[in-house]
Amino acid sequence: MNARTDTSPEPAEPPAAPTLSPALSPVSAPATPIPSSAASADTDASGPDRQQFVDWLRAVAPYIHSFRGKTFVIAFSGELVKAGVLNALVNDVALLHAMGMQIVLVFGSRPQVEEQLALRHVESRYADGVRITDNAALECAKEAAGELRLDIEAAFSQGLPNTPMAGAQLSVISGNFITARPVGIVNGVDYQHTGLVRKMDGESMRMSLSHGKVVLLSPLGFSPTGQAFNLSMEDVASATASALRADKLIFITEVPGVPDPVGKLIPELSLRTAVERLQNNHLPPDVAYYLQHLVKALKGGVPRAHLIPFAQDGSVLLELFLHDGVGTMISDSDLESLREATLDDVGGILQLIAPLEADGTLVPRGRHLIERDIGNFSVIEHDGVLFGCAALYEFPRENMGEMACLTVSSEAQGTGDGERLLKRIERRARALGLERLFVLTTRTEHWFLKRGFVHATVDDLPEDKRKLYNWQRKSMVLMKKL
Ligand SMILES: CC(C)(COP(=O)(O)OP(=O)(O)OC[C@H]1O[C@@H](n2cnc3c(N)ncnc32)[C@H](O)[C@@H]1OP(=O)(O)O)[C@@H](O)C(=O)NCCC(=O)NCCS
Repeated sequence: MNARTDTSPEPAEPPAAPTLSPALSPVSAPATPIPSSAASADTDASGPDRQQFVDWLRAVAPYIHSFRGKTFVIAFSGELVKAGVLNALVNDVALLHAMGMQIVLVFGSRPQVEEQLALRHVESRYADGVRITDNAALECAKEAAGELRLDIEAAFSQGLPNTPMAGAQLSVISGNFITARPVGIVNGVDYQHTGLVRKMDGESMRMSLSHGKVVLLSPLGFSPTGQAFNLSMEDVASATASALRADKLIFITEVPGVPDPVGKLIPELSLRTAVERLQNNHLPPDVAYYLQHLVKALKGGVPRAHLIPFAQDGSVLLELFLHDGVGTMISDSDLESLREATLDDVGGILQLIAPLEADGTLVPRGRHLIERDIGNFSVIEHDGVLFGCAALYEFPRENMGEMACLTVSSEAQGTGDGERLLKRIERRARALGLERLFVLTTRTEHWFLKRGFVHATVDDLPEDKRKLYNWQRKSMVLMKKL
């Protein structure tokens, strides 16, 4: 995997330590998160904390270079504000902006509208999960959006010394960028002032972004007749991301991401799989709701979309700058071509490795072994043709994994596929709780050394592997800490 593949670096798994993409990181990644003491003035200047800080910052540099000038639409639910973490988000957004990213912020206001309705003793009305916005509810929606907008603008105006906003000087632009239309009458229900995005004024937003402004959008839009409509933050955000052809759409919400059928967070999904998951109808309704809008944005030309939790402090930074991320990323390309192998791939794998077995680069395996171990293989496929493969063998007693059979067909070499396969195997190994990955190689030493492996000895191998070591072949043992 291209570091949760991108032309830019990308994340993928729960955040243990900031393991930064070796694909992009020219320096070795630090093993532990940056400690607060690293920035403290009273730490010894030559101490390990400071060195760790410098290493960490240098390792983040490739991400910063690759994200500079990119457009990110960051949308957050009203629950985030209710949870009291608006300031933290604003600090992080200001940091992204300072690093050269163009930011559009979209906020939701569901709980705040509920509060306004409760204050006025007006009952909330929904049909099919969509609010029916009557006159009273529209007033509440305006009030809630107005208050939130002021709070957000105030948060961006902070600049006290010794705070993350010191010296930020960031201007926020809001405006009538959204043209709305009424939902109308559906199945006999008149949704009144509940609306949908009809079109976005992408050009004006682009102009503001190019002048260094943060664009702030509320979940309200206006029709050409001058009426206001209550919109959903998700609709506004996905329409904005598509209109701007944004590089990323990020939803920061009360859900941690997309779960698999047993409830485990899925770090990455292809667009195709995301659509299938929605069609299968097994997702929690709130996740399905967010996912459906992310999918819409991807279909509208946004290459990457993320669903991340606000419950995790700094989740937007973790998602963007950690190799493993914190939520779920949905991608419209690349990932579809990198997947786990099935029995249908046995023929393709045999074809791929045959020349390398013949010239002695790989140990001969044969159809039977490949069939038996097919579940260990990951493959890269372009247009139905296999171009690369690699396998992971687990040694659970020693918490180690072996990457074997790494192969990229000669016509595809040098385009990063080998690296993507390595990343995929590393991720699979981490998911199994393995701590070290090793390879036995005769001709590819430097390729692995460049990717964080170090020399080891036969004695360092798991016992079962040691017993099988072929002393005539004299393969080098290379190992990497995961
Ligand atoms: C090793 C291999 C998997 C790399 O795949 P890939 O898709 O070309 O890898 P990437 O695109 O990520 O990397 C390409 C870089 O690796 C370098 N590279 C390729 N083979 C190398 C080798 N044997 N030793 C050192 N570097 C090598 C290329 O020169 C290129 O370097 P550059 O980008 O700095 O110019 C592929 O070359 C291959 O299949 N080799 C034959 C099988 C093999 O040796 N497998 C390993 C068994 S242990």
